[in-house]
Formats: sequence, C-alpha cells, structure tokens
Amino acid sequence: MTQDELKQAVARAAIDYVVDGEIIGVGTGSTANFFIDELAKIKDRIKGTVASSEATAARLRAHGIEVYDLNEVESIAVYIDGADEITDTGAMIKGGGAALTREKIVASVSKRFVCIADGSKLVGTMGTFPLPVEVLPMARAAVMRQLAALGGQPRVRTVVASDDIFITDNGGEIIDVAGLSITDPVALEAQINQIVGVIAVGLFAARGADVCLLGTADGVKTLTF
Ligand code: 5RP
Repeated sequence: MTQDELKQAVARAAIDYVVDGEIIGVGTGSTANFFIDELAKIKDRIKGTVASSEATAARLRAHGIEVYDLNEVESIAVYIDGADEITDTGAMIKGGGAALTREKIVASVSKRFVCIADGSKLVGTMGTFPLPVEVLPMARAAVMRQLAALGGQPRVRTVVASDDIFITDNGGEIIDVAGLSITDPVALEAQINQIVGVIAVGLFAARGADVCLLGTADGVKTLTF
C-alpha cells in the first residue's frame, strides 16, 4: 500500500469516532484532508465543525460542511488530526503543516483526540522530525538563541522554493528545531512554552492523543492511551 492509501484507510476508520449531532474538530494536513473528504459523505449526521486552519476551513466549506468559529462553541466532542511523530504514550510532534497553534487550541477544548497517521509516524523517541515552534516575528532571533541553548539546531521556515519567511494563519513565523532527542516530552513542552515570544510549540504531550489509528500493511491498528 502507498502512504496515501494508508492515510486514506485511517481517515475512513476515523468516521467511527464521529459523534452524531455534535461539533467535530478537524485538523490540518494531507491525512486530515482525506478525513474531510470522508466526513463530507456523512455531513448530515453532524452539527458542524471547528477548523484548525484556514486551509481546512476552506476544504470543509467546499464540501458544504458548516464551520463554526471556536468562540461560538462550548465544547467539541472529538478532534481528529494527523501527526508528524507519535509515541506509544500518545505524545506527538505536530506542525509540519504550520497549523500547530490552532490545532493545540482546538484539541484543548475537545473531549477526545483521535490521531490518524500512517505507520511511519510511530517512533520510540521523538525528535527525528524537526520540532516546529511558532513565534512572534519580533522574537524570532531571541527565541532561536534559547532553542539552540536547549541543544537543538533552529532554522526559520521559509516558503517552499523561496527565501521568503513563511507566515502562519496567525501572522506568526515557524522555527523548526532539528537535532533534539525528546526523552521527556511533557517537560520540554513546558520549558519551550516558557520562552517569551513563543506562541506555541508543536509538542502535544501534556494533552496528547487519546486514540491513534495507525495505518499499516496489515490494516488499521488502534492504539489507546
Ligand atoms: C499540521 C500537522 C499535521 O497533522 C502533520 O504535519 C501531519 O501531516 P500529514 O497528515 O500531511 O502527514 O500537524 O500542522
């Protein structure tokens, strides 16, 4: 099976976690996009969605799925999103698609977090995928010095095939930190959150996934944490 077929399989399996009549939180990225396409097939069963990025909101609306502003919503039954890395305790690195801050906010008000990922995302120790950190533009250099002091190699994310700095939906910038071996994700998340100028760090450890649907050659495996 190709990686896209594995992503499609977990997206399909995630439909079983959609709660009828409720608002569903929807993540960002290629796996989340497959999920949106599946959700469209059962859109009449849900009240609506909250999106974790402008791109996700646009895809949901293109399917005729209602998108609510998070400020209009008190709670979200389930949040469904991909990951760049996930451990066997449900801690994740996210933000490869630059939506980490909104993803974290939507996840924080969701009763259940269902991660959908192809099998390559399951790791023993996180950090091979560079850790994304969203920062206020004026704090970029100061934050990069502090991330380097933690032992990482920080690099500002640029627009693909260009030297222009990438700007997020929130007007922030992304620093990707390579070379970290993340043995205590909860502690590192708290430590990076304390750096002034950081908007959010793409470590989802304090609030990790509750369930992971992992796409493998042997079928979709369900990990619960
Ligand atoms: C976006 C994310 C994505 O969930 C993560 O990058 C995984 O993406 P994909 O499903 O394309 O592999 O965190 O900010």
